[in-house]
Amino acid sequence: MKGQARIVLKNKEEIARMRKAGRLAAMALREVVQAVRPGVTTLELDTIAETYIRAHGGVPSFKGYRGYPASICVSINDEVVHGIPSQRRLKRGEIVSIDLGVFVDGFHGDVAVTVPVGEVNKELLRLLECAREALYQGIAQAKPGNRLGDISVGDQACAEKCGFSVVREYAGHGIGRQLHEDPQVPNYGVPGTGIVLRSGMTLAIEPMVNLGGAEVVVGPDGWTVRTRDGLPSAHFEHTVAIGEEGPEILTRLPGDSLI
Ligand code: CO
Repeated sequence: MKGQARIVLKNKEEIARMRKAGRLAAMALREVVQAVRPGVTTLELDTIAETYIRAHGGVPSFKGYRGYPASICVSINDEVVHGIPSQRRLKRGEIVSIDLGVFVDGFHGDVAVTVPVGEVNKELLRLLECAREALYQGIAQAKPGNRLGDISVGDQACAEKCGFSVVREYAGHGIGRQLHEDPQVPNYGVPGTGIVLRSGMTLAIEPMVNLGGAEVVVGPDGWTVRTRDGLPSAHFEHTVAIGEEGPEILTRLPGDSLI
């Protein structure tokens, strides 16, 4: 089967449950980000996330997913995505992406942010700002009648305007009762192409923006994705519901400037 046939549309009641999953994911991410500082180990961050999620009646979506061993992905500097938590301590001047998924009440929420560890240089701040902006440019296109390619192009154009590149090997995805549903949501594309977006679609949009080239490599652990040129990368993600009026970000806390 191809394209739209496999996309699961959500009704109002299901969107309401996804709102709950999205909110818990966002709250857990906030807890983790508040703990980011020089000296903390990435495993300590993982424990904070898992404890918080379970204390609020959820289950970490990533743990055990295709054998993934932890509750969050922690990707430092040139690590793009899927970094596995460890005894590694964060250092001042680094950037770190925290990616977190929650399953609650039958549905998943998926969210990621990249933040500085202590003070970082201006170039890194610009990378973070640009990657966040790329996410929001993509989200702005997520409305009925637009096409999937319009989201991708929103991401890509924004990243490339800054002189950075978007990763092509990894994409966003549909999300709902499954962490990964159709369609794939690439971060590059051609405007006006791809499936037509409809109210009731729920998508995780997640641009990965590299300071240097777009190429990536997977590390020996089989998970950690790095930039080929060793330059830093930033990753931002929101779970979004397409409504009649346009996109609703399910993983954003009202009044929270985190992402
Ligand atoms: Co995702």
